[in-house]
Amino acid sequence: MVIGIPKEIKTAENRVGLTPAGVHEFVKSGHTVLVEKKAGEGSGFSDTEFKNEGAKILKTPEEIFNASEMIIKVKEPLEREIPLLKEGQILYTYLHLAASKDLTVKLLERKIIGIAYETIEVKGKLVCLEPMSEVAGKIATIMGAYYLAKPYGGKGILAGGVAGVHSANYIILGGGTTGINAAKVAAGLGARVVVMDIDLERMRYLEDVLPKNCETIMSNRINIEKELPDADVVIGAVLIPGGRTPCLITRKMLSIMKPGSVIVDIAIDQGGCAETSHPTTHEEPVYAVDGIVHYCVANMPGAYPRSSTFALTNATLPFGLKIAALGWKKAASESAAITKGVNLSGGKLTCEPVAMAHGLKYSKIE
Ligand SMILES: NC(=O)c1ccc[n+]([C@@H]2O[C@H](COP(=O)([O-])OP(=O)(O)OC[C@H]3O[C@@H](n4cnc5c(N)ncnc54)[C@H](O)[C@@H]3O)[C@@H](O)[C@H]2O)c1
Repeated sequence: MVIGIPKEIKTAENRVGLTPAGVHEFVKSGHTVLVEKKAGEGSGFSDTEFKNEGAKILKTPEEIFNASEMIIKVKEPLEREIPLLKEGQILYTYLHLAASKDLTVKLLERKIIGIAYETIEVKGKLVCLEPMSEVAGKIATIMGAYYLAKPYGGKGILAGGVAGVHSANYIILGGGTTGINAAKVAAGLGARVVVMDIDLERMRYLEDVLPKNCETIMSNRINIEKELPDADVVIGAVLIPGGRTPCLITRKMLSIMKPGSVIVDIAIDQGGCAETSHPTTHEEPVYAVDGIVHYCVANMPGAYPRSSTFALTNATLPFGLKIAALGWKKAASESAAITKGVNLSGGKLTCEPVAMAHGLKYSKIE
């Protein structure tokens, strides 16, 4: 199969779809890999490194999209990329279609095969979302601590406190992969941490593995309203797989929070946990609503592209190799994980939560 790796064009996105080691694996299996010039630069990989592993370097995205049977990317295609996609072409990337009806409709029109990293599932785990969630969870705590600083609109509270002075209160909504990683870092900083989830089993596990400065509380409207007045940093880490994030903090609820508190809404890529959240970029990561600082960067791992690209390729490579070896239909028929990943199939929407989120017709992949 001919595999194309375009350079990411989303603002401040420096990750790339494959590492040179990933290219090596495709080439070793007999595939052709085309890499756009300077695609790996932001992650610290030179064209020469890709060439040494057998990739061909092409100058423009047009050449890459035109010649490839499967495009391996990081983020969903942007306006400039959508017209380059061809009928029947496989797009293997994060799609996050539940967050955008417009993108969903435009990609359906292109009649591509859209295989979304975020819905590939193995034993109930979203294995290609997990590595980025680990990164994003760890970043969230650091960003929360950073924006608590007075010059950035925060309360001026030091996350870990100092001798004789309270440390910051972190409320983490959702105790999955991002949530536990955010909690581990916050606990390590010395903050007081509350993780709120709706899954009792998960909270039992969190109680077992997290340090003593972390506790778990059932997530519901009443409990969230009780926690918000004391929160210094609220981290939105909820996920309904493939669906829109539930709105757990309404605009009205901001008024019970203290000015200078920070909301880091990691779940913004699926719509966000707060009514007042809207996507931001690394260039302008924050804005304030009613005195509450909102950090809503939709591609947080992009800030640490080298670590993130290694982690991403580690997770996506086995499925990518299978799709390339067998073609997407056979790969999906043999692998339930890949079947779950197929969101779009030649003009049909084959991911039920996305169809429900947008009121569009769902077609069974089978
Ligand atoms: N912004 C970014 O750059 C970035 C990067 C990675 C992941 N994410 C996003 O972060 C979000 C979380 O991802 P994850 O990997 O941690 O998911 P996950 O499935 O591991 O965890 C989600 C958790 O949310 C819990 N949950 C569901 N409904 C809840 C509710 N009403 N209240 C409290 N908890 C609830 C679930 O029980 C689960 O434990 C997703 O939207 C994901 O797309 C964003």
